[in-house]
Amino acid sequence: MKVLITGSSGQVGTNLALRLQRDGHWVFGVDKRENTWTDDFRYILQDLAIHYPAFRGGIGGVEYPEVDVIVHLAAHAKVHQLVRQPHRALENAIMTFNVLEYARQLELPLVFSSTREVYGDVHRFEEYGEAVADFAYTESPYSASKIASEALIYSYARCYGLRYLVFRFSNVYGRYDNDLQRMERVIPLFIEQMAAGEPITVFGGEDKVLDFTYVDDCIDGITRGIEALAEGEVVNETINLAYGQGNTLVHAAELIGTELGVEPKVTLAPSLLGEVTHYVADLSKARELLGYEPEVPLEDGIARAVAWFREHRAAHPEEETALPADVLFPQDAQLGWKPVPS
Ligand SMILES: NC(=O)c1ccc[n+]([C@@H]2O[C@H](COP(=O)([O-])OP(=O)(O)OC[C@H]3O[C@@H](n4cnc5c(N)ncnc54)[C@H](O)[C@@H]3O)[C@@H](O)[C@H]2O)c1
Repeated sequence: MKVLITGSSGQVGTNLALRLQRDGHWVFGVDKRENTWTDDFRYILQDLAIHYPAFRGGIGGVEYPEVDVIVHLAAHAKVHQLVRQPHRALENAIMTFNVLEYARQLELPLVFSSTREVYGDVHRFEEYGEAVADFAYTESPYSASKIASEALIYSYARCYGLRYLVFRFSNVYGRYDNDLQRMERVIPLFIEQMAAGEPITVFGGEDKVLDFTYVDDCIDGITRGIEALAEGEVVNETINLAYGQGNTLVHAAELIGTELGVEPKVTLAPSLLGEVTHYVADLSKARELLGYEPEVPLEDGIARAVAWFREHRAAHPEEETALPADVLFPQDAQLGWKPVPS
């Protein structure tokens, strides 16, 4: 297959592109940033969040090679950043619109990366009445941008016959995720801080339960989805992709500490605005439709993530003295915000 991946310089995009190539598929990426992890697949630089008028040979008149399927991953993917800068949520929706128009013109099937965030803070609602189609629970602009993107996709399926799969990911961690100056994610941040002997802060306290997904499991699920969609075996479905088990963030920190041989110095703090504090995925659909069976529990995944972090840091010692956040995020510093992990 020939696969177009948007957001191909990101964590999921890079892992997916390399896996698809290993499986013998041909990959073409689009991202607005260079890929800092690998030169092993072809991509172009393009900002997908601009209102484009033309979609014939590619997005915005840029010629793309012919492909069989699109995987749309490009997004501003940090929950808390979008609380601070909500215009980025709108950009997420524009990107999805551009990709959908391109898919519509060329009649291409689409795989989309949604998120557990669309469920809101799950443990808060247990009964369903009018709330079934009520988005008042939307926790954050990021969550709103994914709900909007999903809604656009479903409408394109109804009105234009789009063939799609929507995947809802949850806290993907492991390989190619420690670009902390761009994207502070909680697992690599804790690894970095604990390895440096620094204390860590757990926003959301001891009760914060998340479904952490090792990146290879997530990529395996997406790959199964791409193949099933292209074959027409599984079409127009929305599917959770995670590990299917809840773990507290405090437990994840303890596992990192064990792996590094250090005692975590943990400060508990209240949850941040817009954050989901409880989620465990139901994977029945992924199992049934795709034969998806995640293989990496948190204990093994953390061990692999720490090993990868060590290996990567040994090859890039300069990253240890990366620029401080107020230099990297001057806009945030002016507003008095500090970047926080999500
Ligand atoms: N990693 C997770 O835990 C997780 C969880 C739920 C959902 N998701 C979703 O999965 C997708 C991939 O996540 P990721 O972890 O690889 O994120 P990432 O930030 O590492 O990758 C996203 C990529 O999109 C690119 N991008 C952003 N704006 C763009 C634009 N205007 N034009 C072109 N490219 C642009 C970024 O440069 C980045 O390389 C995202 O849509 C994210 O919202 C991820």
